[in-house]
Amino acid sequence: MEMHIVSLKKGLSVAQALEDQAGIAVLGFFISETEDVNLSSPWSALTSYLLNNTDTEVNVRHAISINDLIGDVDRSKYFRYMGSLTTPSCNEVVAWTVFQEPIKVHRILLQQFPFKTGLTNVYRPVQSLNGRQVFSSPAALLPPSHQWCYDEECEFNPTKWYLLPDSHCDGEHQSPVNIETTKAVKDEHLDGFAFTQFDDKHVIKYITNTGHTVKFVLNEGAMEVSGGGLGHVYSTIQFHFHWGSLSNDSKGSEHTIDSKRFPMEVHIVNKRKDLTLEEAVNTTTGLAVLGFFIEAAASSKSSGAAEQHDDESSDDSHDSTDASTTATWKTLIGYLAEIQSIGSRVEVTKEMSLGELLSDVDLTSYYRYNGSLTTPSCNEAVVWTVFKNSIKLDRSMLTMFPNRIGFSDVFRPAQALHDRTISTTAGGSPLAPAAFFVFLVQFCAFLL
Ligand SMILES: *[C@@H]1O[C@H](CO)[C@@H](O)[C@H](O)[C@H]1NC(C)=O
Ligand SMILES: *[C@@H]1O[C@H](CO)[C@@H](O)[C@H](O)[C@H]1NC(C)=O
Repeated sequence: MEMHIVSLKKGLSVAQALEDQAGIAVLGFFISETEDVNLSSPWSALTSYLLNNTDTEVNVRHAISINDLIGDVDRSKYFRYMGSLTTPSCNEVVAWTVFQEPIKVHRILLQQFPFKTGLTNVYRPVQSLNGRQVFSSPAALLPPSHQWCYDEECEFNPTKWYLLPDSHCDGEHQSPVNIETTKAVKDEHLDGFAFTQFDDKHVIKYITNTGHTVKFVLNEGAMEVSGGGLGHVYSTIQFHFHWGSLSNDSKGSEHTIDSKRFPMEVHIVNKRKDLTLEEAVNTTTGLAVLGFFIEAAASSKSSGAAEQHDDESSDDSHDSTDASTTATWKTLIGYLAEIQSIGSRVEVTKEMSLGELLSDVDLTSYYRYNGSLTTPSCNEAVVWTVFKNSIKLDRSMLTMFPNRIGFSDVFRPAQALHDRTISTTAGGSPLAPAAFFVFLVQFCAFLL
C-alpha cells in the first residue's frame, strides 16, 4: 500500500493551490505488511473506521497522530520530484516526496482496506518521466548503485553484472585488464599530456561515499586534458579509488602489470568536451580515464612500481614523495573521516590540486588501450591510460581507505583482452626526455 499526506501551500485556498506550480506538497509513504508488529497499533484504531459506504464521513474519536502512523520510518531518506495529483483532474501542481523506508503494518490490518471498503486495485499506473529529474536526499540509498557489489557472497557480484539492466559487462572490450609488458606495442603517437587548471587548488567540489568507492567530483569544465595521443579535448569530471583490505600486504588495484596487483589505483575520469555525458558513455572514445597505481613509499627503492627498468633509467626520486605532495594527500585522506556513511557527501573547501597529488609521477610514460567502465553498466566507451610510474604514499595512508570507509576489496577482476592490443609510450627512446621537458614547460606555465 501507499499512504499520501496532502498539504496545501499555506495561505492558499484549494482552488488557488490547484493553480500554483507547487501549490500542493504530498508526502508518500510505502506500507509493507508484516506480522512482527503489535496489532493494537495506531493503525488498528485507524482501520476500525473503514466503511464500505461511498461518500460517508465519520468523526474520529480516537487520538491518532500522523507521527504515530509513520512510526520509526527514517524521515531523512526520501526522493523528490515535481508531478501531479494521481486522480482526475491530475493537476500538475504537486511537489512529491516519496520516502524510501516503508511503514510496517500488520497483515491483518492491511487486509481491512479491501475487505471493509469493498474497493480493490485503487492505484494509477506509473506515468512517464518525460525528462523530469528525480532527486534523492543525501541520506537516501540509491538502489541502482546498490544492486551490484564486489563481494563474491552477494547476489550481483562481478560474475553476475551482465544480468543488470542496460549492462554491457559481458562485452569483448571490458576493463580492467592485465597488461603484459612484453606484448605492449610501442606507439610514437603517445606523446605528453597537456592539462588545463592542473594546479588549480579549488577544482574539487565535493567528496562522496558511493557505497562502492570514494569519489571526488570536480567543478564542471574546470579541468581539461588533451594530448597524450587522445585526439580530443576531455574535461575532467571526477576521480575515485580502488583498494584492498586492511592487511599490510593488501592488493586492490584494478589493472595488473604482468599479473602483479598493486595496493591501490586511482582513476581520473574525463569526458569528451564536445559530448554530453550521456553521449560520451555511448561513444567508443567518449571517456578517457587516467589510471595511477598507488603503493607504499620508502623501504623498497628497488620495487620501482610498474616501471620497466630494462629500458628506462630508474629514478630514485620517485620513491621519495616530496613534502607538498604528501601534505596534499594528507588533506585528501583527512576528508575520509567525514564520509563514513554510505551516501554521505561533504563540500571540499581545503586547497588541493590534481597537479600536487600527481607531482611525483612521470606523466609521459604509460600504457594505452580501449576498454570500458570498470563498474556497471561497464560501457565500452573508455580510452584507458595506465601510468607506469606509481604514486607512493605512506602505508598508514593507504589503510585509511578501508579503515575509514569500512568496505574493502573494491576492484573488478581482470577481463579478457580478446582482440585488443595494448600500446605503450616509446620509453627509452631519445624522444621521452624531450616529451617530459615539454610537459614540464607546460606545467610550469600553469604555475606562473
Ligand atoms: C457493505 O457492508 C455491508 C455489511 O457488512 C454489506 O451488507 C454490504 O453488502 C456491503 N456493501 C458493499 C457495496 O460492499
Ligand atoms: C581505440 O579505438 C580508436 C577508435 O576506434 C582507434 O582509433 C584506436 O587505434 C584504438 N586504440 C588502441 C590502442 O587500440
